[in-house]
Amino acid sequence: MIRSQWFSPLLAGLLAVPAALAIELNIDDPNSLKDVAKQAATDMIAYYNGRASSAIPGKMDGTWWEGGAMFMTLIQYWYWTGDSQFNGIVQDGMYFQKGNDDYFPSNYSQYLGNDDQVFWGLAAMTAAEVNFPEQDSEPSWLALAQGVFNTQVPRWDSSSCRGGMRWQIWPWQDGYTTKNAISNGGLFQLAARLARFTSNHTYSDWAERIWDWSATTPLLSESGWTIADTTSCASQCTDHGDLQWSYNYGTYISGAAYMYNHTDGAEKWKDGINGLWGTSQQFFPTLGFDGDGGNTMAEISCELGENCDRNQSCFKAFFSTWLAFMTTLVPFTAEQVMAKLRTSAQGAAKQCTGGISGQHCGRRWYQSTWDGTQGLEQQMSALGIFSASLVDDQQAPLTSTTGGTSKSNPGAGTANSDNDVVRLRAIHTSDQAGAGIVTVMFVAGWVLAVTWMIRGG
Ligand SMILES: *[C@@H]1O[C@H](CO)[C@@H](O)[C@H](O)[C@H]1NC(C)=O
Ligand SMILES: *[C@@H]1O[C@H](CO)[C@@H](O)[C@H](O)[C@H]1NC(C)=O
Ligand SMILES: *[C@@H]1O[C@H](CO)[C@@H](O)[C@H](O)[C@H]1NC(C)=O
Ligand SMILES: *[C@@H]1O[C@H](CO)[C@@H](O)[C@H](O)[C@H]1NC(C)=O
Repeated sequence: MIRSQWFSPLLAGLLAVPAALAIELNIDDPNSLKDVAKQAATDMIAYYNGRASSAIPGKMDGTWWEGGAMFMTLIQYWYWTGDSQFNGIVQDGMYFQKGNDDYFPSNYSQYLGNDDQVFWGLAAMTAAEVNFPEQDSEPSWLALAQGVFNTQVPRWDSSSCRGGMRWQIWPWQDGYTTKNAISNGGLFQLAARLARFTSNHTYSDWAERIWDWSATTPLLSESGWTIADTTSCASQCTDHGDLQWSYNYGTYISGAAYMYNHTDGAEKWKDGINGLWGTSQQFFPTLGFDGDGGNTMAEISCELGENCDRNQSCFKAFFSTWLAFMTTLVPFTAEQVMAKLRTSAQGAAKQCTGGISGQHCGRRWYQSTWDGTQGLEQQMSALGIFSASLVDDQQAPLTSTTGGTSKSNPGAGTANSDNDVVRLRAIHTSDQAGAGIVTVMFVAGWVLAVTWMIRGG
């Protein structure tokens, strides 16, 4: 953010001079796509290695969840390109941050949202589905994903809105009184993927429950197929914060894709996929872009105004790669989705011509010259779209019956000491007076949070 304002157009122009070094993308040549993906990953890892907290594997400066998100993109990168050079970094970080096999490590667990934790679970799930290398001395990737599921499900909150996951886990966090799309859609996706991998109906029951509950709130409208970012407990989940984010659509459509495949094409999930793919077109806008006919992906709620925060700068990585997996699970979507991903990759390549290396990526893939921004998150989004464009229809995520070797441990993560959340919840509900005070305090917090969200973070 600071950088984007600080770079004067002149300075940006000077720094862009080495752009001749940038790799030209030939979208029809897989080796060319692999080259640009490798470049994006290499520059992302350079940021990662240069971080102040580099002594702590998997911990990034100022954010914890992005570590899991980044590892997810590197697991996908390995799977779609075959380049294993970053696998050691991924294993180190993924194992170091595992907590009690639940991705709720005590250093950070006091400040985490459900969405933050679930990203690590989704990274572990991805690793399981692609047989990412495991270490014998460590829990399986599948068990780690199950550990996240097992710690999240007890937080299902029926004290308002007749269900749903809160955004934040602890009452002292802004966002505790909010239920949001990525927390609910994130657990929905994880449950759907666990269901397909293990065929254990506990997971599909939860996937159904979360989807159906979401559809009773503005978080998922089955009539208009819109996804609101947030809704408040105080309103019984009737109000809505309507900022549109690609990863919210990505997580619900992805979970629906896994359920569609798992149920052998059930109508419910087909409708969801078609509906959400329709409204996802907003992320491929036509407004004044370089003649791409509305095929280039944009994070519309922040890129146009150039006010994306770090979180928002990596959402396109998840949207891209979840859509890519969808094409293998729901073959009828492949043609349309791949056309959008491939045009977006071409746009992203034009953005990866900036910074000191002449190869750092900006955010605005719809703009033919570097937008003057750079950062680990921009690299992550570019990596996502480049590797997503390499998916082939033979590469569906594995299951325990189609070659997935990661071992199931349905009880993972339940024997941990971090489950104080559940205890705390019990105290609140039995102490009405205390709960009242907490409510007053957190309504105030919620107002702050909403103000913060409206300001665009
Ligand atoms: C927790 O914090 C301590 C102190 O900074 C550090 O040494 C340790 O590696 C951290 N653990 C994790 C899992 O990040
Ligand atoms: C993004 O950032 C906010 C504020 O720092 C945080 O509370 C939220 O849960 C983050 N995570 C995701 C996955 O959006
Ligand atoms: C589920 O995925 C497999 C693997 O890609 C695919 O062959 C199959 O057709 C999919 N099922 C449905 C109902 O589309
Ligand atoms: C299915 O998952 C549930 C919940 O984790 C677990 O209690 C049960 O043992 C699992 N069943 C099998 C057959 O793995």
